[in-house]
Amino acid sequence: MIERMSQIPELAVNQHSIPGYTFESATHSPSSGDEWWRRSVIYQIYPRSFRDTTGNGIGDLPGITRELHRVASLGIDAIWLSPFFASPQKDAGYDVSDYRAVDPLFGTLEDFDNMITEADRLGVKILVDIVPNHCSDEHTLFKAARAAAPGSAARNMFIFRDGQGENGQLPPNNWQSHFGGSAWTRITEADGTEGQYYLHLFDSSQPDFNWDNPAVGDEFESVLRFWLDRGAGGFRVDVAHALVKEPELPNWGGTADGAPTPGFPFSEAPMFGRPAVHDVYRRWRAVCAEYDGERVLCAEANVHPIEAMADWVRPDEMHQSFNFPFLHTGWDAAALKAIITRSLRAFDAVGAPSTWVLSNHDVPRHATRLGAPVPAPRPGDGLGPDDKQPDMQLGLARAKAATLMMLGLPGGAYLFQGEELGLGDNTQLPHELRQDPSYARTGGERLGRDGCRVPLPWSTGGESLGFNDSGAGWLPQPAGWAELSREAQESDPDSTLAFYRETLALRRGRELGLGNLNWLVNEAYPELLGFENSGILVLMNLGRLPVPLPTGTVLVASSATAITVDSDSGVPLLAPDSTVWVSLEGSTPTA
Ligand code: GLC
Repeated sequence: MIERMSQIPELAVNQHSIPGYTFESATHSPSSGDEWWRRSVIYQIYPRSFRDTTGNGIGDLPGITRELHRVASLGIDAIWLSPFFASPQKDAGYDVSDYRAVDPLFGTLEDFDNMITEADRLGVKILVDIVPNHCSDEHTLFKAARAAAPGSAARNMFIFRDGQGENGQLPPNNWQSHFGGSAWTRITEADGTEGQYYLHLFDSSQPDFNWDNPAVGDEFESVLRFWLDRGAGGFRVDVAHALVKEPELPNWGGTADGAPTPGFPFSEAPMFGRPAVHDVYRRWRAVCAEYDGERVLCAEANVHPIEAMADWVRPDEMHQSFNFPFLHTGWDAAALKAIITRSLRAFDAVGAPSTWVLSNHDVPRHATRLGAPVPAPRPGDGLGPDDKQPDMQLGLARAKAATLMMLGLPGGAYLFQGEELGLGDNTQLPHELRQDPSYARTGGERLGRDGCRVPLPWSTGGESLGFNDSGAGWLPQPAGWAELSREAQESDPDSTLAFYRETLALRRGRELGLGNLNWLVNEAYPELLGFENSGILVLMNLGRLPVPLPTGTVLVASSATAITVDSDSGVPLLAPDSTVWVSLEGSTPTA
């Protein structure tokens, strides 16, 4: 890293020859405390696609243990591990049939313990992805509920209701499933008659728990303790906004994902953000606090607007919440500035860090998204072979620029496995291989999320590029991944992997996560997004013209071509679709 940095010449720019940069007053002051989660970088492992040691085409826990040192060497603090619990895998493990067991697909509890031992050795925490809104219809509690009589204690663990209409032939209300279709499924009672309906905000195989029933809360406290006792560093909490429903279950005309809908504000949604949901997290926070090592809770709370999301991270609730509005903001300097400002203000107000994220297992990877000619029809949907294909060169350039900007922000950041290799989606997946339930539930209208979930490429050769030895894969990898494999990048100082390592080391070394943000404006270039954090200028060019750079030393650039020099004036320029970090040490930018 030092060698590369010294190759980038000091930018001796005549301050008077470049258009003026001005600081805006402090937008954000660091929140109180320096706990690890206020500045953390957390790397998401999606186990089924990480590394497969058995050759069955699905990644496993021993695969994670084996390769964890490579992830740790990126310079991350923790892993968010997507579900590995016993599950029929109807929603890739987010349909849990036993919260205290490892699915044989992924290994055993002993494998989990070995993974924790290795993580401890490497100084990396493992956050378990807990799914409290719903389980699988194959969970013993749901099987018991189904078999029991209406109104029984067993049924009361879930949300069962009689149907509407003379013969109960209509669902109890108009709620829609996130994956398409009604959010209600009717069961056949033990006596063979058509019976009650159960609520499922997701697939019909994922019945929602009844969080008004204290027995549900007790069960989950016990599950949390099970994993905390085994060394989990905390939890990523799935669908953390939806656990508690308005008891009368009134009709609702808003969208299933709670996105802003005219006339149907999120704050009135009967299934999202009900006040009692916060009591759940107060209890969980207290449970975590009983354990040593600062165990944490991170909310997947798809809450609008961002100011409302801050309620999930009040001092006695969760520690972090994913910043989806940031993820969904496109290639737009003003929009990014606005959401970053609003996020920092909203989270500052409750003394919590903001988090930042660009990719995860539910959205097209940012290398694909930012190279796509038109955005995917819905945030959760990928691109398919019938869509206009993304420009992957542009996508990768912008993805690295966006990552470099994100990692310069104060607060916590999340990375999704494979983004450090510059991977995009498989946008050519044959439809018949799609497994996301939203594809089938919408009759193929929505492509679903499979494209971003493809098994990782570890080596340049072999049928599955080192994902396993057998060549099998639960989804096929796209063409061209051999050169993006870890092996191809491992010792290449110009690789995307080296760029991530370098950036993460600088971020950690300069403690940017705990820093302060001041916006930096160059009025002549409105499509420049600039800010200063801890003496580093972060400059991202989202426009079409090169932008003159202020005085300083370039610490890291998103590509080898990020900086050019104006042939007339000799002024260094930041190329379009690029980001740089410039050190201010020993110099003052033009005011
Ligand atoms: C969350 C998960 C997603 C899953 C859904 C239902 O949004 O991230 O993958 O399908 O919850 O559990």
